[in-house]
Amino acid sequence: MGPDGGKVVAAKVGEGHDRRSMSEKSPPIVAIDGPAASGKSTVARRVASALGVVFVSSGGMYRAFTWWVLEKNVDPAANAAVVELLGATSFDCGDDCGVGTITVDGQMLAPEAISAERVNRNVSIIAAIPEVRSRLVAEQRAYGQSNGLVMEGRDIGSVVFPDTPYKFYIDASPEVREQRRRAEGITDSIAERDKADSSRAASPLVVPEDAVVVDSSDLTVEEVVDSVLAAIAEQRDQV
Ligand code: DC
Repeated sequence: MGPDGGKVVAAKVGEGHDRRSMSEKSPPIVAIDGPAASGKSTVARRVASALGVVFVSSGGMYRAFTWWVLEKNVDPAANAAVVELLGATSFDCGDDCGVGTITVDGQMLAPEAISAERVNRNVSIIAAIPEVRSRLVAEQRAYGQSNGLVMEGRDIGSVVFPDTPYKFYIDASPEVREQRRRAEGITDSIAERDKADSSRAASPLVVPEDAVVVDSSDLTVEEVVDSVLAAIAEQRDQV
């Protein structure tokens, strides 16, 4: 509050521009959403590294809990049993050299475990359960409290960090995404995952209203990263 009881408005230096450099401003929270195999994860990782903030894959968190459900022999389709297990599970989110990590009940999961075929087949079912979403969204928000981050997922700009000015939606044609998936040796159906992620009742995949949309079908990773960084720099000038 100011001396007259009104809000203190930060004075701007220069001709309408805030002349503090990017590094002097509070670290940004960058939300990158998009469908499976749109390239958002590679892009998010590189953008985080360029900005010096942690990269977090929120899909990795849904995958980690899905792995745990399967490990505990709980039927992913049995919502009540999944929610009961959720209540008995502790998550611990951290940062390993700029990459977000999650332990589930003290167990750190290897990338191979969370990208296994059986996790691929069940993760959309687990991610559609509202209780799972609200628990993991709380964990995701805790990451962004003070140090900034780049988080990729399906609902990061729409639900997890709706107030951030840095929102991106990375897309690519279904054909290109299918090809990318096969090149990674993954054989799940992109069409089925798109349908499940976009049609669920709880926080479906949507293009946030104020997001910058980038179609990566005919762009290199570098071109997408450069366009995202340029948009962030432009926005930061105005924040
Ligand atoms: O990005 P990914 O393929 O690792 O995501 C795995 C699954 O998790 C995907 O089917 C959708 C779901 N997901 C979600 O519902 N919300 C997020 N923020 C991130 C992923």
